[in-house]
Amino acid sequence: MANVTVIGAQWGDEGKGKIVDWLASRANVVVRFQGGHNAGHTLVVGDTTYKLSLLPSGIVTGTLSLIGNGVVLDPWALRDEITRLEGQGVSIGPDNFGIADNCPLILPLHRELDSLREAAAGKGKIGTTGRGIGPAYEDKVGRRAIRVCDLAHLETLDPQLDRLFAHHDALRAGFDQPPLDRAELLEQLRQIAPFVQQFAQPVWKRLRDAKRDGARILFEGAQGVLLDVDHGTYPFVTSSNTVSGTVASGSGMGPNAAGFVLGIVKAYTTRVGSGPFPTELEDETGELLGRRGHEFGTVTARKRRCGWFDAVIVRQSCAISGVTGIALTKLDVLDGFETIRICTGYRLNGEIIDYLPSNAAAQAAVEPVYEEMAGWSETTAGARSWAELPAQAVKYIRRIEELIECPVASVSTSPERDDTILVRDPFAD
Ligand code: IMP
Repeated sequence: MANVTVIGAQWGDEGKGKIVDWLASRANVVVRFQGGHNAGHTLVVGDTTYKLSLLPSGIVTGTLSLIGNGVVLDPWALRDEITRLEGQGVSIGPDNFGIADNCPLILPLHRELDSLREAAAGKGKIGTTGRGIGPAYEDKVGRRAIRVCDLAHLETLDPQLDRLFAHHDALRAGFDQPPLDRAELLEQLRQIAPFVQQFAQPVWKRLRDAKRDGARILFEGAQGVLLDVDHGTYPFVTSSNTVSGTVASGSGMGPNAAGFVLGIVKAYTTRVGSGPFPTELEDETGELLGRRGHEFGTVTARKRRCGWFDAVIVRQSCAISGVTGIALTKLDVLDGFETIRICTGYRLNGEIIDYLPSNAAAQAAVEPVYEEMAGWSETTAGARSWAELPAQAVKYIRRIEELIECPVASVSTSPERDDTILVRDPFAD
């Protein structure tokens, strides 16, 4: 099957935007299957930079773009994003954009609860994006969510609102907050409903038809495997499954839909928000990586934590997500380092282990075991073939492949779409 699934193999922000943009230009359909507007994808096309949070990246190239049921959708954020992109000349309408009608909504009460909890948690906070993602997913599995399809039936929503409000008013009382205003929420929903409804549809059916027509489908993952609610650094994770397996449940296609799984991997490691990060560098080297890599969040503008490449977590992510090949990004950020370190294992309680354990305290306690390589003084920025790379840079990439037990499908050497060394075309498989 000529489908491709793109996932982040670290803690998100691996540079998925550029790769997805390139693949989207060759796909017939682009689908988001998890997460929400906590994601931030930056696409650079020619002289124009597009910042996407919720919309699938295909939208910029006019490719049919669908939001699957696995996403949590803030309709007001969606409207703002569409308005912003339309201002940049991107045309978005029901012909090139659709939303699954069984997609749960993020409501203002979710955003508020996200902030209240984070503020109350103090030092123990998750460091969420504050978008209401977690509370919205909780309501989905708690069977209290208002979904896109409900916007067409607001007059029958009372029993659902009873369940939702009973739950949230109890929580809010614990934060000394007044009860929710039902009339106000209904009015907000009434106002936004027509905007959302024009895009609402059974996405699973649209995908079934696309499959029948032999379409190339690109599944665009958000965040990264280490932020997966099951497989990540729990509880410092997002609230969705970010692994490739979510393609099936989050879009309504069968488990074979994923096709070629492309894991996006940064040539070093970053993380935003709290939680374990074994190779984090809280020194001048970490600062330098951050400065060179422009490591500030697209969504929250927070400074990202930076560290050396951690082969242990990437090997783990590739296994858990069934990664077919990786796209290595931001190699040029490492230009000019005299020596470069790669984490090959962890030391825990006097033993060497080759995986990240599940327990949070153990994750916080592991110490990286490094091997050191000579760096390169030449620039790799803009390289488009192996021949243009310094020998040491090639050696670094080959060592990464060996350690993560997964082949490199492409190497990205600048934000520009064409500055890429393509080893294996995921759509050609
Ligand atoms: P939430 O998804 O807003 O609930 O945030 C939970 C955790 O996931 C926090 O550590 C966030 O910083 C992180 N996170 C969420 N979305 C992204 C992303 O797109 N890139 C990187 N980190 C993210």
